[in-house]
Amino acid sequence: MRQPTEISGAIPAALHGRVSDARVPARLPLHVEWGVPPSGASLSPDEVRIALTRIERPEWPIAELQELLAADERAQAEKFRFEADRRRYAVGRGMLRLWLSRYLNRAPQELSFRYGPNGKPIVEEGGDLHFNLSHSGGLAAYAATRAGEIGIDLERVHELVGLDQIGVLCFAPEERALISAQNPEDRLAQFFRLWTRHEAWLKAWGAGLGGATAPKPDEDAWSRPGAAGMLETFAPAPGFIASVAVIFPHGKKTL
Ligand SMILES: CC(C)(COP(=O)(O)OP(=O)(O)OC[C@H]1O[C@@H](n2cnc3c(N)ncnc32)[C@H](O)[C@@H]1OP(=O)(O)O)[C@@H](O)C(=O)NCCC(=O)NCCS
Repeated sequence: MRQPTEISGAIPAALHGRVSDARVPARLPLHVEWGVPPSGASLSPDEVRIALTRIERPEWPIAELQELLAADERAQAEKFRFEADRRRYAVGRGMLRLWLSRYLNRAPQELSFRYGPNGKPIVEEGGDLHFNLSHSGGLAAYAATRAGEIGIDLERVHELVGLDQIGVLCFAPEERALISAQNPEDRLAQFFRLWTRHEAWLKAWGAGLGGATAPKPDEDAWSRPGAAGMLETFAPAPGFIASVAVIFPHGKKTL
């Protein structure tokens, strides 16, 4: 099984949470791996586990993944016009089921999902296990933790038309200044770093498009004593950037 690209130190050390409260470590260790862990894998209360898969070349036979889908997912797959899209959807869902089943110790086909008000998926009878997922450029990332609500956003770093206009819509002035301060060749990476951090946070919160319902903590929020949550950025594969956010149970009240 391939190993993920080294987790980059893309965030300045000052943004990393410090252990400020023995019960609530501000920064939980992040474990990133390709494919699904073996049966009986455990997810301890103080860690974040991330699985990566290439949707076109999953670590599991595609036909077996398709077999794991529930009736509503099969119906959803059928709605795609092209076979390639049907296959991609089935692989994404099949891998999600397989991966979750390892931590929940249940059969993948027995899992069922419900959805939050803005569409965030939640696994039924998942106990304290929270998960989220993201896909971009043929790569999918699944994140799970027992430490609180979780969100992950993955992006392939690619040229964007109208970078400045998007920045005006989505970023605070100081974030835009951070992008402008980069060398031209580093601007895109900084843009996607900030973008994935926003999205991961909003997805942890379960916000909908526009994110209007979610508070927007400043970057220092993650390093304050008793931090409300954690936010980490890493490079899962060459040309990709991802961020993962966790909101600790006490965090939702303090934000
Ligand atoms: C719904 C949304 C979270 C999807 O994000 P995306 O980058 O298009 O897609 P991703 O691949 O990262 O994530 C998609 C997955 O997120 C999950 N998801 C869907 N709605 C979600 C929500 N409200 N919260 C958390 N996760 C959600 C689903 O599992 C979905 O995958 P699936 O459809 O295959 O099951 C995003 O469109 C959104 O609404 N973002 C809100 C913030 C915003 O408006 N940002 C712009 C900043 S200016």
